Amino acid sequence: MRIDILTIFPGIFESPLRESLLGKAIASGLLDVRVHDIRDHATDKHRRVDDEAYGGGPGMVMKPEPIFAAVEALGPGPKRVILLSPAGRRLDQALVRELAAEPWLVLICGRYEGVDERVVEGLPAEEISIGDYVLSGGEIPALVVLEAVSRLVPGVVGREESLERESFGPEGLLDHPHYTRPAEFRGMRVPEVLLSGHHAEIERWRRQAALEKTRRNRPDLLRDEPEP
Ligand SMILES: C[S@@+](CC[C@H](N)C(=O)[O-])C[C@H]1O[C@@H](n2cnc3c(N)ncnc32)[C@H](O)[C@@H]1O
Repeated sequence: MRIDILTIFPGIFESPLRESLLGKAIASGLLDVRVHDIRDHATDKHRRVDDEAYGGGPGMVMKPEPIFAAVEALGPGPKRVILLSPAGRRLDQALVRELAAEPWLVLICGRYEGVDERVVEGLPAEEISIGDYVLSGGEIPALVVLEAVSRLVPGVVGREESLERESFGPEGLLDHPHYTRPAEFRGMRVPEVLLSGHHAEIERWRRQAALEKTRRNRPDLLRDEPEP
């Protein structure tokens, strides 16, 4: 899968793209991630990518020309172009699954007051938000999209980080609690059933614990869940 990231702060991506699962997936060629500096497509000698807002008000707006030029420089092909924006469709695991099925994503990172609306209208770009809060730029949101999507690219997540039974999976539940050694820590014991080796009972316990956790932390996910 190919992912192009357009930003005015390419340095933000250096370490996240080098480390851990993302780093390995890129090194092994499972993911082809390319970071582009939007400033390289500015046309004036000061490499300006922002300007004052029409209609007035504080804060600058990212100009459309360098962003259009940066996307057009990627060449032809079936890209899904995304503008990270708090005013976009909110990211969830269903949208992550949809994005992971695409061959090529383009992630545009905004800054300042945001991006000239003609980027949305004219490229066109679809707006995606990572949640109902405002960050200073689209770089962290782009990394959130990239990491969530990359986990679903076959081969990226190994056995030790299995995707089975993760939160927001097909059952719509949160993950069950996890424990590791020691069996007792500061007076807190691991539930006995997990030490029993009895697979059917462990399975039953996990399902029940996942339901309880979902009911406690995210009752909104249980709207369609039948009573146990
Ligand atoms: C300071 S924000 C602009 C906020 C905008 N004026 C508003 O009120 O909706 C600058 C950039 O950060 C990014 N950003 C901030 N919060 C975000 C979020 N929750 N999801 C996705 N991108 C976000 C976007 O790329 C945005 O253009």
